[in-house]
Amino acid sequence: MSHAIRAEGLEKRFGETHALRGVSLTADAGTVLGVLGPNGAGKTTMTRILATLSQATAGHAEVGGFDVRTEAHRVRQLIGLTGQYAGVDEMLTGTENLVLIARLLGLSRNESKARAAELLQRFALTDAAERAAKTYSGGMRRRLDLAASLVGRPQILFLDEPTTGLDPRSRGDLWEIVRGLTADGVTVLLTTQYLEEADQLADDIVVIDRGEIIAHGTSDMLKAQVGGQTLEVRPIQAGDGEAVAAIVGDLADAPPEVREGLVSVPIADPAMMPAVVRRLDDAGIAVGELALRKSSLDEVFFALTGHHSDDIDAEANELAAGATKETSA
Ligand SMILES: Nc1ncnc2c1ncn2[C@@H]1O[C@H](COP(=O)(O)OP(=O)(O)O)[C@@H](O)[C@H]1O
Ligand SMILES: [Mg+2]
Repeated sequence: MSHAIRAEGLEKRFGETHALRGVSLTADAGTVLGVLGPNGAGKTTMTRILATLSQATAGHAEVGGFDVRTEAHRVRQLIGLTGQYAGVDEMLTGTENLVLIARLLGLSRNESKARAAELLQRFALTDAAERAAKTYSGGMRRRLDLAASLVGRPQILFLDEPTTGLDPRSRGDLWEIVRGLTADGVTVLLTTQYLEEADQLADDIVVIDRGEIIAHGTSDMLKAQVGGQTLEVRPIQAGDGEAVAAIVGDLADAPPEVREGLVSVPIADPAMMPAVVRRLDDAGIAVGELALRKSSLDEVFFALTGHHSDDIDAEANELAAGATKETSA
């Protein structure tokens, strides 16, 4: 079976910035590929290349079996992209926006109206259909963007951070919509900064960092690799930090981190908790705080790369400067 999306060794340079450093990935038809990474990782750059809006400096990609560079017009007939490509007009109403796009795609006036009404209904926007898009809330606006990208019934959809900045309820609404699309056989490439979002939606996840894929697998595989939850222990005596780190590190199979008296470590198996408590007790260490919570993306990153995602900008700039020196030498 051919892949709906296939990229091999994609590289992109913007002057000194090496935004993509050889990205390879595949997505099977009818699945959701989650691309998980922090700000500046290269998610938008990669999405734009796959959606034919930008050209790679090196590498090769096919979408729907067509080359994104040499067969871009064929690719565009198959895809939808939220935001840029669909282009919602703030001054137009929900209906007007969707009808306009449908007309541009060659549907008749009546077909266009019917398609607009159907999509507005599906995305719970019927009540707001005759209001200008500029009056919409953030969540409604994202749903209209998504509806606009679906007017042409794309087989392959690119959603670039579709829920960033949305409240939890709107995020949940969008997740439901994405699930509905894949049930209809649409292939979705979804970029996100949220581990939970990738976990909820993606069949397969690639983790991207500084233009490189640093991990790849199902949500369960990644969790097993880095731990889906984080154990936090704060000893009452700050001086006990290293002793606590030794104990939890021993049980967690991953290097714990000690920051300002708080010891944290990603763990795959919450069943280890009683053992942690027992060992701390045996060692006579009094604990002020003991908690198990979902790992943040930053913690997943720390576990995978040994650095925090907020260190990335500074480090990427240093690396870019270093790389320039090498190539010019
Ligand atoms: N048009 C551009 N010109 C110069 N640098 C860019 C451009 N677009 C993106 N970059 C840089 O490329 C890197 C990746 O950016 P981007 O793909 O937007 O990341 P993400 O979408 O994951 O936040 C960043 O360092 C960013 O500053
Ligand atoms: Mg982006």
